[in-house]
Amino acid sequence: MSSVLRSGWGVLGLIAASAISMVTCDAKNTPAPAPAPAPAATGETSADEIVVGHYGSMTGSEATFGQSTDNGIRLAISEINAAGGVNGKQVRLITYDTKGDSGEAGKAVTRLITNDKVTAVLGEVASSLSLAGGAVCQQYGVPMISPSSTNPRVTQGKDFVFRVCFTDDFQAFGVAKFTKENLKLTKAAILYDQKQAYSKGLRDDFKKAFTTMGGTIVIDQAYSGGDTDYSAQLNAIKAKGPEIVFVPGYYTDGANIAIQARKAGLTVPLIGGDGWDSEQLGKIAGDAIVGCYFSNHSAPDQPSMQTFIGKYKAEHSNQIPDALAGLGYDAANLLFDAMKRAKSLSGKDLRDSIAATQGFKGVTGTISMDKNRNAKKALVIVQLKKDAAGVVTPAFVVGVEPSEK
Ligand code: PHE
Repeated sequence: MSSVLRSGWGVLGLIAASAISMVTCDAKNTPAPAPAPAPAATGETSADEIVVGHYGSMTGSEATFGQSTDNGIRLAISEINAAGGVNGKQVRLITYDTKGDSGEAGKAVTRLITNDKVTAVLGEVASSLSLAGGAVCQQYGVPMISPSSTNPRVTQGKDFVFRVCFTDDFQAFGVAKFTKENLKLTKAAILYDQKQAYSKGLRDDFKKAFTTMGGTIVIDQAYSGGDTDYSAQLNAIKAKGPEIVFVPGYYTDGANIAIQARKAGLTVPLIGGDGWDSEQLGKIAGDAIVGCYFSNHSAPDQPSMQTFIGKYKAEHSNQIPDALAGLGYDAANLLFDAMKRAKSLSGKDLRDSIAATQGFKGVTGTISMDKNRNAKKALVIVQLKKDAAGVVTPAFVVGVEPSEK
């Protein structure tokens, strides 16, 4: 194996089984791969194994996104390999760290395809990074499945790029409907991350959905991911007297915004999108985020999640998986299912087989690929509550079905 095991990923390193390799991609030490020839015709790297790539944020301010997804993918791989593999071949995973950066994402995918000759690519979580990586997969004709990127543009015009989650037009609808109908609030403020395609898109879609339902956006403010001082925006928001603040960003910023909002005397609930899904949200924000809401792909207290959660906890010292782990698990298993049905593992045959997927039973819901390579699935709204041990945990409030839109 040409891989480098990095012990810094803690438990991830420990679970790396013999058939699974873990490689890190460090742009500083790795020369950019030379422009590659066409990918291998069969997509099979050796006679007895199938190599799959994962690119994800293993480090940085979105580190739990990549780590959870990788754990979910590896759980699926250990199960399929224990059951004899895919068409008799063992599956081997190569993971590269994107560090939450789109430039790194593009490089990671190029390396997976040209250097490692992967059959298919799984990732990314963040939509801006999936846009970068997806362009590379499309260029080389290698199928990619994003477990969790929700921005509509991720799959648009790229017939090799798929996702196993809902899109942000539906997510925005779900948040708007919950705010208006369940919370009965009509005056909302928005504070979004102007650097992320995900955040911008969700803000646009929420504006449309909420105003169509009769709500009012009293103020719309922007930040840039990684900012440390949100006081100007929060004071401006407070002055407009909103009843709720929609914060469609990622968890590290969301947690810091919650802390600073409370300091600024803004006491109304905050509501986020799936980008808030990380145990770090509650760890960083503590009491400042308790009582707030976000929309997500699944909730840890949903009965349908319990079998998967049990398996995951057994592998990860009792840690409760977030939605990303389930989506990573589903993306990997859907890929294996498509591989079994494919005429061959060439990029085009595998692409056609993924595109034909109907009624696949995932742990996050039943997945059918529509003609735009997207899945239509329900969402959940969760509320952050303290559990018996004082840990801030998301609790299921309501589900929203695609048919409601
Ligand atoms: N949907 C987010 C995006 O597109 C990523 C995400 C999914 C984050 C699920 C957390 C949980 O950028």
